[in-house]
Amino acid sequence: MSSLVRSERTRYIQTVTTAADPSRERWNRRWAGERASAATTPSGFLIAETETLPPGRALDVACGAGRNAVWLARHGWRVTGVDFSDVALRAARELAVASGVEVEWIEADAVTWVPPGRAYDLVTVMYLQLPARERRAALAHAASAVRPGGTLLVVGHDLLNLTEGSGGPTQADVLFTPDDVVAEIGDLAIEKSLRVQRAVDGGGAARDAIDALVRARRPAGG
Ligand SMILES: C[S@@+](CC[C@H](N)C(=O)[O-])C[C@H]1O[C@@H](n2cnc3c(N)ncnc32)[C@H](O)[C@@H]1O
Repeated sequence: MSSLVRSERTRYIQTVTTAADPSRERWNRRWAGERASAATTPSGFLIAETETLPPGRALDVACGAGRNAVWLARHGWRVTGVDFSDVALRAARELAVASGVEVEWIEADAVTWVPPGRAYDLVTVMYLQLPARERRAALAHAASAVRPGGTLLVVGHDLLNLTEGSGGPTQADVLFTPDDVVAEIGDLAIEKSLRVQRAVDGGGAARDAIDALVRARRPAGG
């Protein structure tokens, strides 16, 4: 069962109907707690990798409190943001309203929710850290949503961050490498696949964070 809430500036679709999911509950607590005042600054990698693309339809998977989805919408994209945390999506909606943009929000589990196939000019997956089996499913869905000529951007905490970086998850099983992503996104053409360094918020950290970044494109006839 799903439900749809419409208001003047937002469209909210709820598809999560499963019994309590501990991971979702954990994220809801996190977003309700110290992360309630979540960063609204978009990812520098998102900006760098997408600012030259002509705006079209974008899907932000695991959009959290909406910083990236709202930035895209402010730059002319028609955006759908998906996350399984209703608490995050509430913050995301507030950010969109405060920013004067319209975004479609979908409350769904990225592991099981199947987006419309080949429908988006840009699909972003930023810092969705899942165990390998779930990540593979989520990335396969994300890749399948990229339309011919469209772009997939995946950024997340790299495995190397555990020993040589700063911040991020401390469980190795939810970290990944660029090669993992490349192996999991099917037949898209890889444009970039690399480890990138990111200055940690607050600037007090002794070293940068290490992220994995993959940008890929579905060939025009693909
Ligand atoms: C570290 S936050 C990143 C949020 C956003 N992408 C950003 O860069 O600001 C990770 C997000 O993934 C969401 N998430 C984790 N597992 C998920 C799943 N299985 N389906 C949908 N969202 C999920 C969490 O609720 C959280 O909002």
